[in-house]
Amino acid sequence: MTFKSAVARCFLLALGLQWQKPNRPIDGLPTNRPLIIAHRGSSGLLPEHTVEAYQLAVQQSADVIECDLAVTKDRQLVCLHVPWLNGTTDVASHPEFQDRLKTFSMFGITITDYFAFDFTLQELKTLRKVQQNSFRNQAYNGEFPIATFDEYVAVAKNVTNGRTIGIYPELKVPKFFNSILAAHNTTMEEILLESLQRHGYTEATSPCFVQSFDEDSLRFMSCRTELPLVFLTNDEISDGKMLELSKFCYGLGVKKNLIVEIDPSSMDVAREIDLVARAHSNKLKVHSFTFQNEFQFLAWQYGADPYREYDKFVPLGVDGFFTDYPWTLSNYFKTRCLCDD
Ligand SMILES: *[C@@H]1O[C@H](CO)[C@@H](O)[C@H](O)[C@H]1NC(C)=O
Ligand SMILES: *[C@@H]1O[C@H](CO)[C@@H](O)[C@H](O)[C@H]1NC(C)=O
Ligand SMILES: *[C@@H]1O[C@H](CO)[C@@H](O)[C@H](O)[C@H]1NC(C)=O
Repeated sequence: MTFKSAVARCFLLALGLQWQKPNRPIDGLPTNRPLIIAHRGSSGLLPEHTVEAYQLAVQQSADVIECDLAVTKDRQLVCLHVPWLNGTTDVASHPEFQDRLKTFSMFGITITDYFAFDFTLQELKTLRKVQQNSFRNQAYNGEFPIATFDEYVAVAKNVTNGRTIGIYPELKVPKFFNSILAAHNTTMEEILLESLQRHGYTEATSPCFVQSFDEDSLRFMSCRTELPLVFLTNDEISDGKMLELSKFCYGLGVKKNLIVEIDPSSMDVAREIDLVARAHSNKLKVHSFTFQNEFQFLAWQYGADPYREYDKFVPLGVDGFFTDYPWTLSNYFKTRCLCDD
């Protein structure tokens, strides 16, 4: 049934026609306030993309935990912000892996590093994560392993007292992974679809947002699943583009500077942009990234107070915030009485 509807939507899309969006709320997630999306887990406090950082985010009242995907040599999904490992793990101190140092181009840059797709899952599990931001707590370096996608989903499903924790996997550089996976007659999208199916995420209202910067990848997904799809962008987005995206996407994930522009030299608020209103008029939700507590990420006018930043963004109608500090956002909602029922 579900698969049939996805095929029908895909057919309409190919004809350039609009698909009638279900427009139903996502199962179990709050609708009376914006979503608290824990960016890489509670990654301001613990090394990102670890089971421990995801669990902490759940304890700190996140609605959704977010995960970027990479594929291992033995075609397992793991959670990593980028496919290379040196910045966030102790790989450089493993003599047995020194022959894995390689050079690849992706994201338009050339990188010499150790890459997840050259390691089996078992090998990756011998590494330990480190905090890559020097201004954050280094005390947990060497404590936690890389999380698999299955372990991440298990955290989201391990909830009590009726809460729902959404998941938010990102297809990261899928074209790059697919160039490797072609030898195995599969794609990153197929691997993710199989896994999501196995975990029961198949419906338009399932608490699972699939995100990507790669529009082709999302178009492919829209032909195979009804799950809500979120197109990510760091760039301004025209009305024509929004209309096009609204035919197969649930929403947009946008850099916060596209909503409230900050002058990078003075860190002054430069101007508000009408992106959210325009997206809403195209029936697209807007989730924005990345909200961080450290003063260097906050506009001067916010007075080093992350609540002031949310005060600026919430009235503009943002539907969800990707934050490294989910507890702060949850406390903000309580303080401002955008409370849960
Ligand atoms: C890996 O990171 C360490 C610092 O933690 C640095 O000294 C080393 O040069 C890096 N290696 C590569 C290949 O980037
Ligand atoms: C499930 O949650 C409980 C309570 O929060 C915790 O003690 C346990 O370790 C969790 N298990 C997994 C597999 O995440
Ligand atoms: C490759 O995968 C496609 C789709 O999954 C399948 O139809 C085809 O038979 C496969 N080919 C080989 C050589 O395995």
